[in-house]
Amino acid sequence: MLLIALLFTSFMSITAQENKTTIVKISDAKWWKEAVIYQIYPRSFKDSDGDGIGDIKGIISKLDYLKSLGIDAVWLSPIYDSPNDDNGYDISNYKEILKDFGTMADFDLLLKEMHKRNIKLIMDMVVNHSSDEHEWFKQSKSSRDNKYRDYYYWWPAEKGTPPYRWSFFDVNSNAWKYDATTNAYYLHYFSQKQPDLNWNNPSLRKEIYDTMTFWLNKGIDGFRMDAFQFISKDDSFPELPKEIVNNTFEIIKFYGNGPKLHEHIQEMNREVLSKFPNAMSVSEGAGDSPEAAMKFVDPDRKELNLAYHFESVDIGNHISEFGLIKYKDIFSRYDEVFKEKGWLSIFVSNHDQPRMVSKFGNDTPQFRAISSKMLSTFVMTMRGTPYNFNGDEIGMVNIRFDNIEDYNDVDTRNKYEQLKNGGGDLKAFLENKKQTSRENGRTPFQWDATANGGFTSGKPWLKVNPNYAEINAAAQEKDPNSVLNYYRKLVKTRKASPILKYGKFTLLDHDNPNVFAYIRELEGKKVLILLNFTGKEASFDLGFSTKHTTLILGNYPNKSLLTSNTLRPYESLILELK
Ligand code: GLC
Repeated sequence: MLLIALLFTSFMSITAQENKTTIVKISDAKWWKEAVIYQIYPRSFKDSDGDGIGDIKGIISKLDYLKSLGIDAVWLSPIYDSPNDDNGYDISNYKEILKDFGTMADFDLLLKEMHKRNIKLIMDMVVNHSSDEHEWFKQSKSSRDNKYRDYYYWWPAEKGTPPYRWSFFDVNSNAWKYDATTNAYYLHYFSQKQPDLNWNNPSLRKEIYDTMTFWLNKGIDGFRMDAFQFISKDDSFPELPKEIVNNTFEIIKFYGNGPKLHEHIQEMNREVLSKFPNAMSVSEGAGDSPEAAMKFVDPDRKELNLAYHFESVDIGNHISEFGLIKYKDIFSRYDEVFKEKGWLSIFVSNHDQPRMVSKFGNDTPQFRAISSKMLSTFVMTMRGTPYNFNGDEIGMVNIRFDNIEDYNDVDTRNKYEQLKNGGGDLKAFLENKKQTSRENGRTPFQWDATANGGFTSGKPWLKVNPNYAEINAAAQEKDPNSVLNYYRKLVKTRKASPILKYGKFTLLDHDNPNVFAYIRELEGKKVLILLNFTGKEASFDLGFSTKHTTLILGNYPNKSLLTSNTLRPYESLILELK
C-alpha cells in the first residue's frame, strides 16, 4: 500500500494547467468520473424480516460492508410500487415504495445513513414504460377520449393489424397487444404488463420531470435511466424484418433512437438535471454505435453524463466463443471516440447478465477466484466509470437451474412458453439458459455459511446457490487473499490514482488472442495493465521490455513470471511503467 501511496501522491492534485500529453483538464473532473459504483439488486441483497425478499432495512444493515469496500455510490435497482411482472421494472406508482421493500420512512433512513457514510445513491428510473397497473394506464385504456389516452401508444383496430413488432419479453413475441375495451392495440416493447409511455405527449413528459424532481428534492444523487434509447420511436412503426430479432443493434435502429430522442433528453436536462448540477445521470443503452453513444453524453449537448452500451455484453456467451480480440476491439473503438470528451461506463455484468466470472472468466473451482480478480482488475483499470454488480466482489457464479419452475424471470419464462407453443427444443433451451439467463445474476447474496447463505431466515424468493457454504462474504473476510479482499485493494488502487481515473488508454499487442494489455497514461506517467483471459500460461509481446516496471497490484500472491513475458492462468498485473 505504501508503494501505491508514494506512487500517486505526486499526482494527487491535477492542476488547471494544460499538459500536452494529457487530455484531462481539472474543469473536466467530476465526482461521477472518479466514483466506483456498486449495483444493488434489492430483492436479492439482504432480507431483514424473514419474508424471503430483500428489503431496504436489509440494505441498511449492510451499509458498513459497503463502506468497507470503498465504493462511492450505489445504483439501486427499482424499489417503487410494482406488481413485479419484471421485478420492479414495471412501476405502478413512481412516488411510492413497494411494500415488500419497506416504507418511505425506511427509504429516507437509507438515504440518510448512506450519506452519513459518504455513499451516494443513484435511483433506477424506468420511464420508457410503466406497469399496466399504473393509474395512467388504467385511465388510458378505459376510453379513447380519456385525458390519459395519449400517455401510451394505441393503434385503433379499424386501421387493421399493426405492423409486426417483436417484443423483448412477450409470450407471443408481439409488441402490440389487443385490448377489447376500446378495440385497439397498445404497444409494449417489453412484457404485456409494461406498456410503452408516449413521450410525444408533453403532459406525460411533465409528469416524468415532476417525478424525477421529487426524488432529487429528497436528496438522491442521480438516476440510471432504464431502456432510455427507446423513449423516442419512429411513429410510422416500420415493419421489423423477422431475421433481425436476435440482433440487438438492428433492433435498436428500428425500435429506439427515434427522431425526438435527443430533443426529449435536452428538455429533461433543462427541466430537471440542470437544476441539480451535482446529480449524475446515466443512460442504459446508447444507440447503435460509439458515435451515437457520444450524442447522449457530449457535454456540449447538455443531455446526460454517462452511458453504457451493450456491445461488450451482447457479443456472445463466452470469451472462448467470440474471442478476446473482438472484445478488445469493442472497447478500443468506443475509447477512440470518447478520448476527447464524453464519458462511458465500464461493466461486465449487471442484473440483466449472467455472472461475470461464468461468462468472461472461468468458474471452475481451480480458476473461479483468480479469474474473478482478473475481471475486476479489468473493470477497475479501464477509462470510464467502473460498475460492480453485487456478489461479483465475492466471485458468485451462475446457478444453472435445471427446471423452468426454478426461474422467476419474465424473460426466461415467456421465451420458454413461446418455444413450447411452437414445439421447439425445450431441453436445449434450458441448457442454454444455464449459461445465459439473467436469473443467474439474481440469486440471493451469499453472506455466510448459515442457512440460505444468511440472506433470509425465511424461504428465499429465488433459490440460493447451494455453493454458499464455500462462496460467501464471511469466509472471505478472514482470508487476506480472498476475492473480496483483493477487490478492496483494487478499489483503493483506482481511487488513489488519477492515472487510472483519467489517463489516456492505449491498447498494446492487439493481435494477442489471450492477453489484454494496455497502458493508462497521464501527464507523462504510465501504468501498464496485463490481463490473461485464459486458463493457461500466456505470453505477450509489447514491443518493449517490462524490466523497468514496479508492481502496484497483482492477483497472484507470489512473484510473477513477467521477466519471461509470460502471465500465469488468469493473471492480472497493474504495473508502474518507468
Ligand atoms: C432494462 C432493465 C431490465 C428490464 C428492462 C425493461 O433493460 O435493465 O432489467 O427488464 O429494462 O424495463
